[in-house]
Amino acid sequence: ESLLKEVEGFTTSDLKAVEEFRIKMLGKKGAVTALMGEFRNVPNEQKKMFGQKLNLLKSAAQEKVNLLKEELSHTSTSAGEKLDLTRPAEFTPLGARHPLSVVRKEILDIFSRIGFSISEGPEIEDDFHNFTALNFPPEHPARDMQDTFFIDEEIALRTHTSSVQVRVMENSTPPIRTVSPGRVFRNEAISARAHCIFHQVEGLYIDKGVSFADLKQTLLYFAQEMFGEKTEIRLRPSYFPFTEPSAEVDVSCQICNGKGCNVCKHTGFLEIMGCGMVDPNVLENCGIDSNVYSGFAFGMGIERITMLKYQINDLRHFFENDLRFLNQFKSAY
Ligand code: PHE
Repeated sequence: ESLLKEVEGFTTSDLKAVEEFRIKMLGKKGAVTALMGEFRNVPNEQKKMFGQKLNLLKSAAQEKVNLLKEELSHTSTSAGEKLDLTRPAEFTPLGARHPLSVVRKEILDIFSRIGFSISEGPEIEDDFHNFTALNFPPEHPARDMQDTFFIDEEIALRTHTSSVQVRVMENSTPPIRTVSPGRVFRNEAISARAHCIFHQVEGLYIDKGVSFADLKQTLLYFAQEMFGEKTEIRLRPSYFPFTEPSAEVDVSCQICNGKGCNVCKHTGFLEIMGCGMVDPNVLENCGIDSNVYSGFAFGMGIERITMLKYQINDLRHFFENDLRFLNQFKSAY
């Protein structure tokens, strides 16, 4: 009984004293341990009562020790010293930016430097913004160019970020200079070269007197900033419903300097994007007077640019979160 009172009344602010108390009560030669030893000498009829009190004492002592230790650990270390706030922190492993984020930022930075703003829009888009405004006639086979995930007849996952440019044109007056980064979706079988989700940056420039020469020079500037100042570009005629004329843009191969190798299939060039002069119908659909204004547009896949820049041969790496792949981009800011 008196030991129980002692246990309950005990208090200290010194960890060493807590440890001494523990040894005194619960240690091999401690008071509680000694009483345990006494147990067999207790007359049978008292054993039950004695046992209960002993258990009570033991757990009270244990709880007291734990409580005091817990309290004191907040203000001092186990050696009883004050916490050392100058101790160097433990090493925290840092992650790496995803290569697509690295390259998206690089693309946006390049266009920001020549006055392009950044615009974003919804991933779930209506038919008007993804197709109709962009001069895809209803039932026209051009809609099949981009296999679409439809949500219902009028609503789909956007197949390109040209839809964002439509929104920008609707909501502002020229001059317009904007780049639109974002995720896009196409119903394609997944392989090393295609995926049902990928990322684009599309660009739009509308003002009075914008010409094809402006487009070419802008793309050359981009290619040289992205791939190095010796990079050359080549334009090949192409078709998009929203641009006329339209072109496919190639850059000289980085591996062989345009001389021809396995990577560029001995052509010396690799395709990086589509582009063209905005079709007057598109300007009109978006409330811009095509007699006053003209413009150019271009669109590229961030995956494709990243694959060329870092010589990645399989698109699926970008989506599989394999740390052996991602860790290689630790130094790429
Ligand atoms: N929107 C086209 C695509 O997704 C790319 C493009 C944009 C082409 C602008 C020409 C002009 O394939």
